[in-house]
Amino acid sequence: MIYSEKVMDHYANPRNVGEIEDANGVGEVGNAKCGDIMKMYLKIEDNMIKDVKFKTFGCGAAVATSSIATEMIKGKPLDEALKLTNKAVVEALDGLPPAKLHCSVLAEQAIKAAIADYYTRQGIDPTPFVGEIKDDHCDSCCGI
Ligand code: FES
Repeated sequence: MIYSEKVMDHYANPRNVGEIEDANGVGEVGNAKCGDIMKMYLKIEDNMIKDVKFKTFGCGAAVATSSIATEMIKGKPLDEALKLTNKAVVEALDGLPPAKLHCSVLAEQAIKAAIADYYTRQGIDPTPFVGEIKDDHCDSCCGI
């Protein structure tokens, strides 16, 4: 399996790993296809993502996609972070082998779950903003 240099870099030196103690949005999702888990911590102020950290029990591709995804949403307004697709994440990594595309969905879903948690904590129904967070990632995989 051939990985791009960017994937190898983000796998070997993942950015934003860890947890945020005073996070105000936390999302955890699992990948139905392999059983791996991703947890995303967000610190949100004035509708902006001030800080983000993640932890995963996923594979190397999951680590790399989450690492670059956290870089792509840090400092961004929530509506922009919600538009981040796994396709954009994979493109930013210069691609992933087809067998590993499902791994990239974990990051997108975990970010959405964390933002949904933030809205819920504010007493706001997240569904209009975040939509349904699918457990079954396969539709989005096959869309690439
Ligand atoms: Fe499970 Fe990649 S094989 S996230």
